[in-house]
Order: sequence, then C-alpha cells, then structure tokens
Amino acid sequence: MVNEDKEKIDLEDVPGLGRITALKLRSAGINSVKQLALYTAEEIEEIAKIDPGRASKILKNARALIKSGTKIYTMEEFEKEQYNKALLSTGVKSIDELLNGGLEPASIYEFAGEFGSGKTQLCHQLAVMVQLSKNKGGVGGKVFYIDTEGTFSPERIHKIATRFGLDLSLAVKNIYYARPINVEYLEDLVKGELIRYVEEVDVKLIIIDSIIALYRAEFKGREFLARRQQRINYILDWLKRIGKSYYIYVVITNQIITAPTGFATIKIPAGGNIIAHASTHRFLLKKADKVWKIESLDSPKIPKGKTALFRISDDGLLSV
Ligand SMILES: Nc1ncnc2c1ncn2[C@@H]1O[C@H](COP(=O)(O)OP(=O)(O)OP(=O)(O)O)[C@@H](O)[C@H]1O
Ligand SMILES: [Mg+2]
Repeated sequence: MVNEDKEKIDLEDVPGLGRITALKLRSAGINSVKQLALYTAEEIEEIAKIDPGRASKILKNARALIKSGTKIYTMEEFEKEQYNKALLSTGVKSIDELLNGGLEPASIYEFAGEFGSGKTQLCHQLAVMVQLSKNKGGVGGKVFYIDTEGTFSPERIHKIATRFGLDLSLAVKNIYYARPINVEYLEDLVKGELIRYVEEVDVKLIIIDSIIALYRAEFKGREFLARRQQRINYILDWLKRIGKSYYIYVVITNQIITAPTGFATIKIPAGGNIIAHASTHRFLLKKADKVWKIESLDSPKIPKGKTALFRISDDGLLSV
C-alpha cells in the first residue's frame, strides 16, 4: 500500500476549489494538486460539472500553488541538465550503447516486435534494473508494471534480480503489478492510482506490456478504428504528461502488423501514426537464430536503422 503520511498540499488549498468540487475530483481519482495540474480545463469541467471559466481558474491556481509552469532555460542550463540526466541501464551493454547510455527520463520508449522477440523479457529486466543503485546502472526507484497480456512472471524477476545482486525480499516489494481487464480500467488506472504510486511511493518506471492488446481486443473492425485511435492517443497523452511532470521513465511494448507496400508486405508496429508520434524513441525487436536484434526506428537522437544484438538466457537479456 502507499504511504498515507507523506505531507502534501490538499485540493482544498487551491483558491476557488471548494469542498464539493474537491469531493467530485476525489471520486474521479484526483487526489493531489500535482495530479490535478495534469488535467486540461475541459477534463475538469466535465468531471466537476463546473463552467469552463471556473475550471481554468482552478487549474491556473493549482499550477501556481505547486509552482508548475514552463521553465525557461539558457542553452547552457539546458545542456547541463541533459548531462546530469540519470540514465537507466538495460543491463545489456550492447543495448545501452545503442541507447546512448541508457533510457532517459520524461520520454516514452516503445519496443515493438513479433511474438518471442524479447519485449516481455526486456520489461522484466528493466523492472529489476530500475531498483539498482546509480553505480550499478539503476536509479534506486520502484516500478509500476501494467500487464495487459498476462505474461508477467515472478519467476523471471527472481532469476534476473539474483543475477544483478538485488535483494529478493526488496525486489518483490518494489514491483507494483496491475492487470487491467479493459481499456476503461487501463485509463482509470493510469490517470488515478498510478499517479498516486508515483507521488507517494517513489515509482520511477512505468511499464505497459503491451500498450495495444486491450485496444485491439475491444475495438475490432474498421468502423471502430477512428475511435480506437482516439482512445490510444488519450492514454499515450496521459503517459506523456506523467513522464514529464514527475520526470520518470516510461516504457511501452507494441505488437507488429503486416502492412502492404505495393507488391510486398512489411512488418511495422501496430497503432499507426498515433503511437509513432507519441513515442519519443521507437525500436523494433527481432529474433534471428539464437540471437536477437534491436533496431532504432525513430528517435530524436539515435540514427534510424542503428542496431544492437543481444541474447536471452535464463538470467535475462545479455550482450552478444
Ligand atoms: N527462462 C528462459 N530462458 C531462456 N530463454 C527464455 C526464457 N524465457 C524466455 N526466453 C526466451 O525469450 C523469448 C520470449 O520472449 P518474450 O516473452 O519477451 O517475447 P515477446 O516479444 O514479449 O512476445 P509476445 O509478443 O508473444 O508477448 C522466448 O522465445 C525464449 O526464447
Ligand atoms: Mg510479451
């Protein structure tokens, strides 16, 4: 359970936000001012059934209260901050090199690939890595693991944790696991409880394995495609807001579809432009004979087509 004692500013401390509105916000899963500040005026208007003017006033006051605004940097400060970013190691030298050192916070990393390409194994490894201390490649944080495909395996965590010298009695406490059964549960989880865990128990990594499964199951057929895409966009937008606002690591996995290109077909990540645009760094995982390959598909700083090789063993992912 989350720690209830930690001091925080109450919703009622926001000027213009009365008891009744606070009640409505809480019943929608909004528990803190920082969480409230992630919402748009339209969303608050809808949730609290208040007029647009009041909704934007409340948000403005909430953001002022937690001093959240757009920070302006000199390039010197910006570069320094980039340099000081704590990178999260994957525990695989070749993949870390591909990633320019490791995963950076406040970005969405997408790992797409066919079945057996290593997506879930990588997620397990990251769930262990994030807990390690800085000098071992981690960030000393906890993980919130959202499993939409039912493939999370405590046994794999045990093996990988042991390999990296992580105390098992701690590892089992530092991984929060949830298996939402449909899109609505997933959305509620991400906008509500997930944020509570990020705020209150030091969750530093969010994993969603996979981002697409529930949407594919729920919105079948062409006539639902537009709606499906809209809903995927919504969840990704939330993940982005959370990643940036709390400066944490976000990892999603994605399935592959076959797309026709003139005479042939190619395999591309599912979810179309929506996921392509939302992911900051996008990779394709492939299994060859005994060796796996990861390839950069789109990233603001890793060249497209750059690859790394890795293996999967009983102890997790390894360099080749
Ligand atoms: N304990 C283990 N020891 C060695 N290799 C393993 C072990 N567990 C899994 N693997 C390897 O990892 C591969 C599965 O990878 P993973 O489950 O990450 O695939 P995935 O990309 O998530 O696939 P899917 O799309 O079906 O979810 C297996 O094919 C197997 O080769
Ligand atoms: Mg999987």
